[in-house]
Amino acid sequence: MRSNHKQSGLFEPEHRIDSGFQADSTIVLAHGDSLETLKKLPDGAIKLIISSPPYNIGKEYEVQQKLEHYLEWLEPILAELVRVLSPNGSLCWQVGNYVEESEVFPLDIYFYPIFKKLGLQLRNRVVWTFEHGLHCSVRFSGRYETLLWFTKTDDYTFNLDPVRVPSKYPGKRNFRPGPDYGKPSGNPLGKNPSDVWKLMAKEWEVGLWNIPNVKANHPEKTLHPCQFPIELVERCVLALTNEGDWVLDPFTGVASALLAALKQNRKGMGIDREIAYVNEAKLRIAKLYSGELPYRPLGKPVHQPTGKEKVTQVPQEWLEKKESNEIGSGLLV
Ligand SMILES: C[S@@+](CC[C@H](N)C(=O)[O-])C[C@H]1O[C@@H](n2cnc3c(N)ncnc32)[C@H](O)[C@@H]1O
Repeated sequence: MRSNHKQSGLFEPEHRIDSGFQADSTIVLAHGDSLETLKKLPDGAIKLIISSPPYNIGKEYEVQQKLEHYLEWLEPILAELVRVLSPNGSLCWQVGNYVEESEVFPLDIYFYPIFKKLGLQLRNRVVWTFEHGLHCSVRFSGRYETLLWFTKTDDYTFNLDPVRVPSKYPGKRNFRPGPDYGKPSGNPLGKNPSDVWKLMAKEWEVGLWNIPNVKANHPEKTLHPCQFPIELVERCVLALTNEGDWVLDPFTGVASALLAALKQNRKGMGIDREIAYVNEAKLRIAKLYSGELPYRPLGKPVHQPTGKEKVTQVPQEWLEKKESNEIGSGLLV
């Protein structure tokens, strides 16, 4: 999917990308260490911090360490994030599991008390589910990650209308006796998207049915091994900020969070210590403004197979084995 319009708005005509935060910046891509870069930001400047930190699972950009050392490394960064967060702002922390010797440690459980100690208040624990991924043999396959949404105070921005989703039964009417009896009971703009978000994680869910090289087919796929889908961030940007607010991702990778922010006329800052990701991020920002950035539009339904596709059919060999009682009765063929 390609954007079909050139992005226009707040930052035309030049879309200057600064390498450090300045009073008149609108886009900042800092190449460097998150902690050192954050120390240079003013208090309370950022309306939304949204990030997916390294999960300590040995990806190409991290060295795996003991869980307690990993958390100790992040703690000063989290304290800086809370310092730069606006009093009306939100922090969204998206994580999955850390796994050690087959034991699973859900990272949000470990991060929650740290943020709580830093004074933040939890508003939602959003479950982001996706349908495909690795198939486990020693436990059930993981098909969700979580996003902890915290605010700094009780006085926070929350715009529900821009992120409403179509309701399942818009035709429902009030049946209780009273002045509203018989009137539509829902909201014409749609319903609250709830705290369970079904978004495409990787392209497996788009091209899978026909195209073998699914990775290459992902509309947003770059050289980065674990990107945010832009639409995941976009929903948070629309709900938790207003136009012109600052959005920051302290572990920005290829800047998916920035793209979501800029797409919605917010200011965006990202930090990453890998130059290859920063360069790719610059390229993606340029493509956003030239109208060439491929992305999956917010709210596009996740692909559902019709049942006619070849890969949805039970293989003939399995049917034959079933017939001859060669396979157990548990198999649903
Ligand atoms: C899970 S990835 C984030 C991907 C990002 N959400 C995206 O959509 O591309 C974590 C990123 O943190 C970066 N990183 C790790 N340690 C860092 C540090 N100390 N300072 C800055 N960036 C760091 C890695 O290079 C990696 O790109």
